Amino acid sequence: MTSCFEGTAFCIHTFGCQMNKHDSERVAGMLEGLGSLPVETIEEADIVVFMTCCVREAADTRLYGQVASMKNIPVRDGSPLLKRYIAVGGCIGQRDGEKLVEALPHLDVVFGTHNLASLPALLSDAVQRHGHSVEVIESADTFSSALPTAREHSWAAWLPITVGCNNFCSYCIVPYVRGREKSRPLEDIVEEAQRYVDAGVKEITLLGQNVNSYGRDLYGEPRFAEVLDAIDATGIERVRFATSHPKDLTDGVIERFGALRSLMPALHLPVQSGSNRILKAMNRRYTREHYLGLIEKLRAVVSDIALSTDIIVGFPGETEEDFMDTYRLVEEVGYSQVFTFIYSKREGTPAAKMEDDTPREVIQERFDRLVDLVQRKAYETNQAELGQVVPVLIEGTSKRDSTVLAGKSPKNQTVHGPVPTGRAAEQLVGTIVPMRIDEARTWYLSGTVVDG
Ligand code: 5AD
Ligand code: SF4
Repeated sequence: MTSCFEGTAFCIHTFGCQMNKHDSERVAGMLEGLGSLPVETIEEADIVVFMTCCVREAADTRLYGQVASMKNIPVRDGSPLLKRYIAVGGCIGQRDGEKLVEALPHLDVVFGTHNLASLPALLSDAVQRHGHSVEVIESADTFSSALPTAREHSWAAWLPITVGCNNFCSYCIVPYVRGREKSRPLEDIVEEAQRYVDAGVKEITLLGQNVNSYGRDLYGEPRFAEVLDAIDATGIERVRFATSHPKDLTDGVIERFGALRSLMPALHLPVQSGSNRILKAMNRRYTREHYLGLIEKLRAVVSDIALSTDIIVGFPGETEEDFMDTYRLVEEVGYSQVFTFIYSKREGTPAAKMEDDTPREVIQERFDRLVDLVQRKAYETNQAELGQVVPVLIEGTSKRDSTVLAGKSPKNQTVHGPVPTGRAAEQLVGTIVPMRIDEARTWYLSGTVVDG
């Protein structure tokens, strides 16, 4: 079948989480299926797709600004469509629907989080009618994984096992734009994983807003530990997952860290706050003590497991004492990495109605103190790697220097090292090579390839 998109070029701008990045791979797969080719810049593209995020206000406002400024970019010479088509999908598409085309009349297509598969039809419709095509639906019957995918790297794959979220943390907009949690049948997951392994993929990252509750909707109880067993049995080299809610992390999953060859010794376990009062107001449904208990159990299984977390500073009503509870928790756990966020009010969430009178400067000062601590701790944690030989999955070369390899250790640390003499970087990309670590910085390690 020929399409009106044959010979066109597309580019995708992705904001936000791994789920969005994965959705972008699906969008790329569909557009390539229509005969469009990927390009790097908006200037070269006939179709520009924005995969958007509305978790915090900054990304939200930026999207509106970016799309508005596209009016001024001329159509590329020789464009078969004679115009540049702009589509907005993802979480802002889902939330704002028609409102987007009202605010941005030069926008052509809007789609949401549940109907990625409609994009080709919506684009064709916009081209044929020379008008807007907007479609946002409340939920979908099919998992987007049934769609073709253009994976960014041949050696790594994201594999969604759940979509949506039932947790309604009081600050978070995700449940409103991604819908209720839906798990994918175990057989489908395993079948997709096996296909990746057969195609030479080295690392699979299982995705979901809360992978730990996988299966509750399908099987009446969480079965995430079984997913890990089944994925391990495919023969995959490395498995990671994101993200985990502490209230649902089971002993079974913790045990798998010690038992499964493929499960990497790294866990992202968002704590959000170290204060029980704030955790309650956030509707997180665990306490600081429960969280620290999980860390203890994890370390009893893998003593040097790399832990990372998300923290929100300045939640409504956060006092200095609450903040210090968070600060001390970060000090105690010793995370390898912490993603720190300043609370951002999201209309429609329960927290948006909470009294919020802490001055901006106070919140910023807390944030800066926390970031200093996080950096100090990350630096200290990395020192333990000095002198160790670690298997590094080579992802490419350093952005700044093409003679320097860049890859990931099992603990998900970035590792840099010179391309060994007599070897080409391209040959090593996607392979796992042992490297001796001789320098440990805050955000990366440096080493030397030690294979023969
Ligand atoms: N403000 C600030 N940070 C937020 N996050 C989610 N919602 C908000 C908000 N309204 C953070 C949480 C979550 C991460 C993905 O984004 O820490 O874990
Ligand atoms: Fe948002 Fe909480 Fe769901 Fe995570 S678990 S997506 S923070 S509501």
